[in-house]
Amino acid sequence: MWASRVRLKPKRTATDLTVLPFTELVAGLPATVPFVGPETQERGRGATFDARLGANESAFGPSPQAVAAMTAAAADVWQYADPENHDLKVALSTSLSVPTERLSIGEGIDGLLGLIVRMFCQDRTPVVASAGSYPTFQYHVTGFGGRLVLVPYRGDYEDPEALVSAAADTGAALIYIANPDNPMGSWHSAETVKAMVEALPPTCLLCLDEAYCEFAPSGTLLPADFDHPQLIRLRTFSKAHGMAGARVGYALTSAPIATAFNKVRNHFGVNKVAQAGATAALADTAHLSVVLSATQTAKDRIGAIAEAAGLKPLPSATNFVTIDAGGNGDRARRLVGALSERGIFVRMPFVAPQDRCIRITAAPDDALDVLEERLADAVTASQ
Ligand SMILES: Cc1ncc(COP(=O)(O)O)c(C=O)c1O
Repeated sequence: MWASRVRLKPKRTATDLTVLPFTELVAGLPATVPFVGPETQERGRGATFDARLGANESAFGPSPQAVAAMTAAAADVWQYADPENHDLKVALSTSLSVPTERLSIGEGIDGLLGLIVRMFCQDRTPVVASAGSYPTFQYHVTGFGGRLVLVPYRGDYEDPEALVSAAADTGAALIYIANPDNPMGSWHSAETVKAMVEALPPTCLLCLDEAYCEFAPSGTLLPADFDHPQLIRLRTFSKAHGMAGARVGYALTSAPIATAFNKVRNHFGVNKVAQAGATAALADTAHLSVVLSATQTAKDRIGAIAEAAGLKPLPSATNFVTIDAGGNGDRARRLVGALSERGIFVRMPFVAPQDRCIRITAAPDDALDVLEERLADAVTASQ
């Protein structure tokens, strides 16, 4: 019976993608990834990097208390994690002074961005972002069938007024902005963000990515208890808490949006080890202070190293320094390549004119020693 059915279509196989029932949307997507990982690059060059300075991780590492909690949780990993993420939610609620009803936990900001786009986008829904801003949001918009409306940066800053006005012009459902921003390291004040929220068209939400919030100068963040029905704030344990590989982030929203996250989230998505680690990391405020201060020292050193090599570091409210390489995108790309050849992993913005820059993550001295030793030579080689 089965054999005779199969024989009806002998010439087509499952390796011919046209026979597989992909949705029209997925069939039409490019097979791109937002970022090529340093591991992929290492496999390509046949050697590991001597200095990993490109992914804005925190090489200062997680809290020792978080490591202990994760080690203990590893032995219980045969159990499914608590799908309500209860302990972490309560810890966040206490630390931020916001009710648990306003919190949603997810697999990093990247995972939460996918859920947000899924909740508000379908069939070419217009969505506004800055051209060259953090690409994972745009990746999800494309993947869920939304229509990206891209607005240029103003200088090295995302442009709140232009973003809101593009949303009003197109009837967008979402605006994405990162404050502080990746890749430029620039930032806006809390008043500017508040004015942006207040100027939103009535059916548009602001997706405010605060991945680097811990590093921002005072006056950058709205108070945690600022509650607006059109505001979604996203934070992560990947940066200041040094847990990028654990994949934990959270959204701070009004209660109805938090309820809606429950309709679409992967309820067992944040694993047991990650939940235990993030809860312990939050309690270790002493470690956080050490990391923040070490990050500032490292950023100052990166700035000095860049200047000594004839490059111009830009102001940064993040855990990385964006550096003007003094030319156009081709020049910066050559410099990224020359650094890679010399065992140093860095990244650069994707879009002109920001792509005149490279971006170097704060790190401990051993990694910055490598940078100091090899940057000038890479600059010369990439002229
Ligand atoms: C602006 C911004 N948002 C989100 C992320 C990723 O956060 P997570 O690791 O929580 O997915 C990054 C990481 O580089 C980032 O720069």
